[in-house]
Amino acid sequence: MASGLLLASLLIVQLIALKCEEINNNEVPFTSVEDAIPKRAVCIDGSRAGYHHDLGFGDGVNNWMIYLMGGGWCNNGLTCQQRRKSALGSTKNIKPTNFGGILSPNSGINPDFYNWNRVHVHYCDGSSFIGDTSVTNMGSHLQLRGSRIFSAIINELLEKGVKTAKNALLVGGSAGGLAAILNCDRFRASLPNNASRIKCVSDAGFFIRAIKAPYAGQRERRFNSVVRFHNLTNFLPKSCTSRMESGLCLFPENLIDDIQTPLFLINSVYDTIQIERNLKPEKLRDVEGWKSCTRNLSKCTYHHRKLIQDFGMAFRETLMNIGDNPSRGLFINACYAHTFVESNEFWNSIGSPKLGNKTIWGAVGDWYFDRSIVKLIDTHTDFPINCH
Ligand SMILES: *[C@@H]1O[C@H](CO)[C@@H](O)[C@H](O)[C@H]1NC(C)=O
Ligand SMILES: *[C@@H]1O[C@H](CO)[C@@H](O)[C@H](O)[C@H]1NC(C)=O
Ligand SMILES: *[C@@H]1O[C@H](CO)[C@@H](O)[C@H](O)[C@H]1NC(C)=O
Ligand SMILES: *[C@@H]1O[C@H](CO)[C@@H](O)[C@H](O)[C@H]1NC(C)=O
Repeated sequence: MASGLLLASLLIVQLIALKCEEINNNEVPFTSVEDAIPKRAVCIDGSRAGYHHDLGFGDGVNNWMIYLMGGGWCNNGLTCQQRRKSALGSTKNIKPTNFGGILSPNSGINPDFYNWNRVHVHYCDGSSFIGDTSVTNMGSHLQLRGSRIFSAIINELLEKGVKTAKNALLVGGSAGGLAAILNCDRFRASLPNNASRIKCVSDAGFFIRAIKAPYAGQRERRFNSVVRFHNLTNFLPKSCTSRMESGLCLFPENLIDDIQTPLFLINSVYDTIQIERNLKPEKLRDVEGWKSCTRNLSKCTYHHRKLIQDFGMAFRETLMNIGDNPSRGLFINACYAHTFVESNEFWNSIGSPKLGNKTIWGAVGDWYFDRSIVKLIDTHTDFPINCH
């Protein structure tokens, strides 16, 4: 009896060990940029920038996906200083990680890209992988080196095989989705032009100005302060800064028509972060009600619902007003969510959001490999829906 129990528990221990091993085998190690210090490819705290790289295999060895991580922006001495002690401003505590969704090595979850070289670039500059300056705040040095980080990592990956890539894809989520837009043509220009396919995907990176929706001033001031604090004007496209104030040139709607490389936009018209942050009432006494509404939509008042609906309309209108580039792909849904491609559930599961019968993985794959034109927009859902 006792030995039976012992055997059973040993078996369990072994099973657990096996399970852990399995998980560990899928963990992707972190790589710091070589020569990061002399190249000044450093995070806000001065630590070396870097990335997680899962090697391609089989017939995917010559294909590369580079994913730019997100995490908002910092826009002044205080908020950038705060990032020094977190993963958003430092790589001192970065651990190996697991890849999901568009980065997954599992062919069932990620049929088109599972065996590519997949790289997850760590975000630690606070301004969407652009800019190159430093600031001293309360005695400490803040390195703001987004542009150097992007170049150093692309150059290192060029040597690791991107130089002879057959297929290449620059992706990013949230602030990284904005970075994928901002750096898309630069990415293509850095690859030898015999690569067969070079494209970009922006997931939840389409932050709108929505001049007619409430609190447009808040959105403008936020981006304006990012541009000023990180001294970004010269890193933004001249085609935009020559037409308008440079603070407005972080809004994708003002950049996208000049991008030459094929670009796919994934976004919800009711993007959770844009709704929560960008429609936040200016009167303090209204903030609590807004918080409970954005946490649980069934708690929204009539006024809140109207604000959210108007924002969705402004989002659709903004999309209609950008030029109709034939190489562009779109998957614009009405989910109450922010970022889709890194999550197995959103990317490819039974309940994944669909438009025109396409899941997100199907839409991105069909567009990337030119299997079909993909311009899918939910034009009618008039209030955010929960998608999982
Ligand atoms: C800001 O950018 C301008 C133009 O690139 C440059 O001349 C200036 O030195 C920069 N200032 C700082 C503090 O980096
Ligand atoms: C691209 O061109 C370079 C230099 O001409 C060559 O070494 C490389 O093999 C080519 N890559 C592909 C995928 O054809
Ligand atoms: C959201 O609020 C409704 C109504 O107050 C409540 O019935 C529901 O349980 C809440 N949902 C969650 C996930 O908290
Ligand atoms: C979606 O798929 C269903 C079942 O296969 C089909 O009946 C329907 O016509 C399709 N809808 C579209 C828009 O293709």
